[in-house]
Amino acid sequence: MNQSYQAAYAGWQRDPEHYWAEAAQAIEWVSAPTRIFDGAAGPFGRWFVDGVLNTSANCLDRHVAAGAGERVALIWDSAMEKRVSRISYRALRDRVAKLAGAMAARGVRKGDRVVIYMPMIPEAAMAMLACARLGAVHSVVFGGFAAPELANRIEAAQPKLVIAASCGLEPGRVVAYKPILDAALALSAHQPGHCLIFQRPAAEATMMAGRDEDFLAAEAAAAPHAPVAVAATDPLYVLYTSGTTGKPKGIMRDNGGHAVALARSVPMIFDVHPGEVMWTASDVGWVVGHTYIVYAPLLAGVTSVMYEGKPVGTPDAGAFWRVCAEHGAKTLFTAPTALRAIKQQDAQGALLAQYDLSRLQALFLAGERCDPPTAEWIAGLLGKPVIDNWWQTETGWPISARFRGLGLTPFKPGSGGRPCPGYEVQALDAQGARMPPGEVGALAIRLPLPPGCAPSLWEDDAGYRRAYLDALPGWYRTGDAGAVDEDGDIWVMGRTDDVINVAGHRLSTGAMEEVLAAHPDVAECAVIGRYDAIKGEVPLGLVVLKAGVDRADAQISAELVALVRERIGPVAAFRDALVVQRLPKTRSGKILRATMKQMANGQTPLVPPTIEDAGVLEQIAGVLRAG
Ligand code: COA
Ligand code: AMP
Repeated sequence: MNQSYQAAYAGWQRDPEHYWAEAAQAIEWVSAPTRIFDGAAGPFGRWFVDGVLNTSANCLDRHVAAGAGERVALIWDSAMEKRVSRISYRALRDRVAKLAGAMAARGVRKGDRVVIYMPMIPEAAMAMLACARLGAVHSVVFGGFAAPELANRIEAAQPKLVIAASCGLEPGRVVAYKPILDAALALSAHQPGHCLIFQRPAAEATMMAGRDEDFLAAEAAAAPHAPVAVAATDPLYVLYTSGTTGKPKGIMRDNGGHAVALARSVPMIFDVHPGEVMWTASDVGWVVGHTYIVYAPLLAGVTSVMYEGKPVGTPDAGAFWRVCAEHGAKTLFTAPTALRAIKQQDAQGALLAQYDLSRLQALFLAGERCDPPTAEWIAGLLGKPVIDNWWQTETGWPISARFRGLGLTPFKPGSGGRPCPGYEVQALDAQGARMPPGEVGALAIRLPLPPGCAPSLWEDDAGYRRAYLDALPGWYRTGDAGAVDEDGDIWVMGRTDDVINVAGHRLSTGAMEEVLAAHPDVAECAVIGRYDAIKGEVPLGLVVLKAGVDRADAQISAELVALVRERIGPVAAFRDALVVQRLPKTRSGKILRATMKQMANGQTPLVPPTIEDAGVLEQIAGVLRAG
């Protein structure tokens, strides 16, 4: 790509269909699309409506056919198992084809759903790609979620098959996944016909006869399955994410738009090319992992590093730099929270200095706003471009970034960069009018969303319209507040709904409130995000007990903490529940969460004139000080 950013963006603006038709040429189609966009289909339109392809064939077979079979597709680096393995495109294609054969032998067909509950092992990527090969729809569930959350996702997706590992490895503990899966299936009204279990030696799973089978044995016994042709508009995956209510939203991704957008994004944003190495230190359970650990690197024919470990403690704060150096990563993509954890332990970069980072060319950050001190700290230490990029599960690839393949736009610490070609972003007021440059409003994307963005929610067009399209006609509401400055740079300031970002993980305070409210002693509650120096935000529960409850507050708090861990999972990082006498409310009974959040974060609270009893705030302030 030797275009400038301005030229690329203007080219897209001039003729979006031409821009995307040209991008679609990077994909190998069974039948190339002739209709690039159909504005009448789906909630806002559908891309490449008559195209036919297979995503897994584009990720694997086409590179093998082009003579790149011996190129490394995946480098698995497990700091937990202290080992590294390299899998070529040919070996990955062969294993995926056999796994797809094993799945087909168990009745999985195009359109069927498969739930994947696995840690960061290559078999997780293989399971995703095997689904794609069959045209089956995967739904990956992050390992840090507890059994009820897994059960919700199983009930929503109605999978024919579940693929899980026996355990995940967290620092200092083995997380036995299989008992969590068993518990989830005991809670779920839907039962899959089969479960394939990848046995890890750290905690071998007990198998249930007739349902559970060994992953590797099933793979070994299977005949390889050829890629199944699917429509560009057929679903590739569903990924459940926290929404505005306690119920997670099933974000649906299609095959064609996804492949086109991701294949374009790799050279454009990352400037990584076939044979080069990119490392995304996320988890396959999140969208960043789906996109930049599995699909985008493989679509682009590059080598992807899959890392099982943490930024610190496995064994130290030099772990990321060790992985970059050892595998020659050209780019590293992580969440700011990981850098804050590293900074806390290696502020001067003594560990970083021990590694040869000459092949690393840029650092990419997403998942939460990167605070300028962290951005400046790491930019200074690395002396390489730092590229904040803003996106969400719904969009599937960055909305805004800086573009290594298009001549970098200026580094403005704290800004999410400029919109990617494909997106027009504005900050709008409640009536949909544009805010003046630099002033904060609701960040919105002009419709239609580009290829790769969720065309709908899983089997719920009406829910999609309600959640994203109805509030600002003609626009997609991102749920983020922010501003667009004079240069067109986007500044993302935080969510406008009940979503909080805890260590780069998207969580719903509404879901946590539902759990707290289910405790027999709790009359009402609120969960708010409180500033945390490493995780960015952590949840804090404020609960009012039912009249007559005379048990110790500390005991009830401990039970509430345990309950959230049990119902949502350790990833919620819910460690504090404070008992208060009353919650502040408006006269119409709305709990003033934003006011309490400002108080918890040491800001001057904005108290609405409609507050029912301002005296309640003093009591809350006292509890927050003591807690
Ligand atoms: N399976 C099971 N449990 C998991 C898990 C998984 N895949 N991931 C996290 N957990 C558990 C952790 O073990 C921890 O449990 P604990 O309460 O028993 O200690 C809990 O969930 C909270 O985990 P986390 O929020 O990750 O905190 P941490 O203290 O272990 O690590 C960081 C903090 C900053 C190092 C870590 O959160 C991190 O690397 N974050 C980057 C996130 C990221 O990449 N996000 C993707 C978006 S780009
Ligand atoms: P998720 O769907 O888990 O990827 O979370 C998406 C949300 O994370 C966004 O709506 C933002 O609130 C936040 N987010 C992601 N990337 C950034 C970024 N670069 N800057 C600010 N916020 C971000």
